[in-house]
Amino acid sequence: MGAPETLFAPAKINLYLHVGEKRPDGYHELDSLVVFADVGDELRIADGERLQFRADGPFAPKLGNDTDNLVLRAAETLARHAGVAPNAHMALTKNLPVASGIGGGSADAAAALRGLKRLWNLDIADAELKAIALSLGADVPACLLCEPLRLEGRGETIVPMPDFPSLDLVLVNPGVALSTPEVFSRLETRTGTNSPIRPFHDRNALIAQLERSTNDLEAPAKALCPQIREVIDALCSDPSSYVVRMSGSGATCFGIFDSAEDARVAAATIADAHPDWWVRAVKTGG
Ligand code: C5P
Repeated sequence: MGAPETLFAPAKINLYLHVGEKRPDGYHELDSLVVFADVGDELRIADGERLQFRADGPFAPKLGNDTDNLVLRAAETLARHAGVAPNAHMALTKNLPVASGIGGGSADAAAALRGLKRLWNLDIADAELKAIALSLGADVPACLLCEPLRLEGRGETIVPMPDFPSLDLVLVNPGVALSTPEVFSRLETRTGTNSPIRPFHDRNALIAQLERSTNDLEAPAKALCPQIREVIDALCSDPSSYVVRMSGSGATCFGIFDSAEDARVAAATIADAHPDWWVRAVKTGG
C-alpha cells in the first residue's frame, strides 16, 4: 500500500465553450479552452479496511447521496477495472460550490483516480486512466491533467497548452445549483467547433480571442437561473474587468483582471454588496 496523501482538486474554468453537433451517444461536440485555478477542494486518501468516505468544508452539506458521489464512483470503477478491493479511507474538504460549472465533482473524481492509483500501486497506463475518467464524466479527463488545455470532442480530446499566460480572475457564484443535462437540453444557439483558436503565449492575443468567443451554455443557463445576469452585471460594472463570462454550464461566472490586486479589490466590492454569493479572487496556472 502507498502512503497517505492529500490531493488538491482545483476549480476548472472554461474561458470559452463552443458547442457543436449532438452526437449519436447523446453528448455534444465541444470546443473549449480550459484553465485551472488556485482554489479547489482537498482530498485526503489513506489506507482503509473498506471503502469509507466523509466530507467536511463549507459545501459538504450540499453534496448529494452516496450513489451520485463521484469520488466513491471513481474508487469503485478504478478498483473494478484493476481487479482489486476498493479499500481506502477518503476525506473530502468541499470548498467549491456544487453543480456550479467549475468542475468541482470532476476535479474530486480525478484527484481520487490519481491518489488511488498510487495508494493501490496500480500499473495502469495513462490512456486507461483517461478512459476510466471519461466514463465518470466529460470533464474528468481534463481534470486529470490540471493544466491549461483545449478540450474537444465530448471531452476526450485534450490538447495541452504549454506556456499559456497565467490570469487573475474573480469567480462569482450566486448560490444556485444548475443541472448540466438541463442546461444542455435548453440549448438553442451553437457556435460550432471549428474555431480557429490556437495556442497562446501572449496575454493580449488571448484576451482579444476570448472577446471574439463565447459560452454557448450561458443563454440557456440564464433562462434557468436569472441571477446569472446579476452576477455578470456585477463583474462588468467593475471598470478593470476584461472578459466577463459564465464557466461550464453555470452558474459560476468569471471576470479577467489586469492584476491580482485589481481582482482582489473587485472581489471585495462584489462580496460586500452580495454577502450571500461565493466570491473568490484567483490566479490560474500558466
Ligand atoms: O459527462 P457528464 O456527466 O459531465 O455530462 C452531463 C450531461 O451534460 C450529459 O448527460 C449531457 O446531457 C451533457 N453533455 C453533453 N455534451 C458534452 C458533455 C455533457 O451534451 N460534451
